[in-house]
Amino acid sequence: MADSEIEIAGSRVGDLSAEIRRHNSLYYREDRPEVTDAEYDGLLRELRSLEEQYPELRRPDSPTQRVGASVAGTGFATAAHKTPMLSLDNAMDADEMRAFDQRIRRMLDRDDDLEYMAEPKLDGSAVELVYRDGRFSQGLTRGDGRVGEDVSANLRQIPSIPDALPESPEPPPEFVSVRGEVVLPLEAFRTLNAARRARELEPFANPRNAAAGSLRQIHDIDLLRLRSLEFRAYALAEGTPEANASQWENLETLRQWNFLVSPECETCQGVDGAIRFYAKLLARRSDLDVEIDGVVIKVNPLELQHTLGALSRSPRWAIAYKFPPEQVATRIEEIDIQVGRTGALTPVAKLDPVRVGGVTVSNATLHNQDEINRKDIRVGDTVVVQRAGDVIPQIVRVLLAEREGRIQEGASLKPYSLPSACPICGGATIRLDGESVTRCPNLDCPAQLKNNLRHLAGRGALDIDGLGEKIVDLLVEGGLVGRLSDLFTLETESLRALERMGEKSAANLIASLERAKKTSLPRFLIALGIPHVGATMAEVLAHEFGDLEPLMAASAAEIEEIEGVGTAIAESVVRFFADSSNAAEIQRLRALGVHWAPVEAVATDTQGKLRGFSFVLTGTLSSPRAEFKQRIEAAGGKVVGSLSKKTRFLVAGENPGTKLQKANDLGVEIVDEAGLEALF
Ligand code: IVH
Repeated sequence: MADSEIEIAGSRVGDLSAEIRRHNSLYYREDRPEVTDAEYDGLLRELRSLEEQYPELRRPDSPTQRVGASVAGTGFATAAHKTPMLSLDNAMDADEMRAFDQRIRRMLDRDDDLEYMAEPKLDGSAVELVYRDGRFSQGLTRGDGRVGEDVSANLRQIPSIPDALPESPEPPPEFVSVRGEVVLPLEAFRTLNAARRARELEPFANPRNAAAGSLRQIHDIDLLRLRSLEFRAYALAEGTPEANASQWENLETLRQWNFLVSPECETCQGVDGAIRFYAKLLARRSDLDVEIDGVVIKVNPLELQHTLGALSRSPRWAIAYKFPPEQVATRIEEIDIQVGRTGALTPVAKLDPVRVGGVTVSNATLHNQDEINRKDIRVGDTVVVQRAGDVIPQIVRVLLAEREGRIQEGASLKPYSLPSACPICGGATIRLDGESVTRCPNLDCPAQLKNNLRHLAGRGALDIDGLGEKIVDLLVEGGLVGRLSDLFTLETESLRALERMGEKSAANLIASLERAKKTSLPRFLIALGIPHVGATMAEVLAHEFGDLEPLMAASAAEIEEIEGVGTAIAESVVRFFADSSNAAEIQRLRALGVHWAPVEAVATDTQGKLRGFSFVLTGTLSSPRAEFKQRIEAAGGKVVGSLSKKTRFLVAGENPGTKLQKANDLGVEIVDEAGLEALF
């Protein structure tokens, strides 16, 4: 009985070890994990508990005894860490945190509260920076904990990594090893992914993968990507000044040496203090500018750390107290199609509801057919859903092993295609060459009219109070509104005929329609729903042309001359006004009383912070250039098209191209978007 039991356990240990090794390689070497962190932790825990139960099954090369993945053959030179870079044991809840505290107090033979250092657990890529004689000499990834990859050249591009340690008040020790995490701040992560999407590249699943991927670039090194990384120091492995007696003092030393240390770090008393810190930081999680996946609780006095020592994989004096995951797995039950204002079909995954990052998620947008193809998403698949901060839930990837399992069980999970008929009007859908969207081209499709009405009534457009989704449906379905302008022909009596429309609401709606007639040119342009013309573009066009007639008469070439307006936008505007039914609608709207005052030229702030500075914008920025131009001008600056010695700043977005080199040659200061924001 016992024999067969151990046999079964042995085979499970073998399977788990192989599985964990495979995930290590996917995570550490290829930056493309197949399972969520929580699932990975689950596998590791199961293995650890089996090994505890049957110590004879624990092999020296077990994944429980080492961290990371081997770095052989990754294209980088490798080097050994002077002291191993360990991992941390995890606590998943307060009970496990208390167990940790009890364990070490027992080992130290102490009944009183221990002093802990509490730090955010940064979710990035761990590195070691070696300084010899005060100068940065080598930077390594964690690798398998003993040997890492030499990524010094890439690390040198990260602004928060000092080239040299300060000589005063004390010269630094001869040999210093600083450890910390390379992270990609969330703002930069969003910019990077927006630019990748624009170039039809697969966006990174999360800031950690983006940081790890950026750090390990070998070919075609994208400098801007490297420069947006941040290094946050959290440990001094070698070169601790003699006078330092605690982790707190080590962090102080790191700060004095000009390293960035997470500002949230605090000392706390006993396990209760640590648990309070955890709760406090968890509540602030989505306000932080970097992603964290928990807190790290460390015994503060260095002497006690030495007494406690380390196991082969992790120190005994520290623990990672993990936050609930923001990525979880769930199943796609079906794919719904929404038809938008411009007839665009948007596929939406209906999910088996799950809690992610503190909220229940049951829908996730799938964007378009290309996105579905790229991720090979199918109805019935188990997928990883992510919700970070205030970001709308997205599907990160499909768990292919789960699909295999279901297919073996006899399920048929076929590749998904958007429907060839519009789910609202039944008309044939189309997808134009070079466009990623599938559309219903039928202008009379009720879905389009309804959405156009909702858009027109929206806050940024005509701002019509009381014209909510339900009323729009009723108006269209009841045949009272067949085109936008019909709204302004509505009367209290006709509204009263609608189901569920009381006298009061009818009168209110009529009153707000009356109010909405007095608007502004930018709002009217937004209300029209011209493709590609959002709030910013509407402002730009309104200020440039002053009124509607000159804009309607302008050619694409004239519109394109405006800074920040590209060909696609110019053509879309011209196409919109050239359409006779659009022109007729505009006329009708005006005849029914919609009006505005002409726009005056933009007032620039001659006292502004940026007065006298000229800027050149290059590369892909997170919002349209026109928006930045406007903000720079509003602050008194000027935006010009080409670089010269007189240019004060080059604002470089993603993929900046040749201007970056030229600015370097001319000695023009280069800032990224974050740098520009700082100037504002
Ligand atoms: S201390 C021996 N402090 O978490 C202790 N690690 O799962 C070494 N991490 O490998 C780590 N934030 O990459 C420490 N404030 C922090 C951290 C931190 C993130 C990472 C680090 C480590 C991993 C362990």
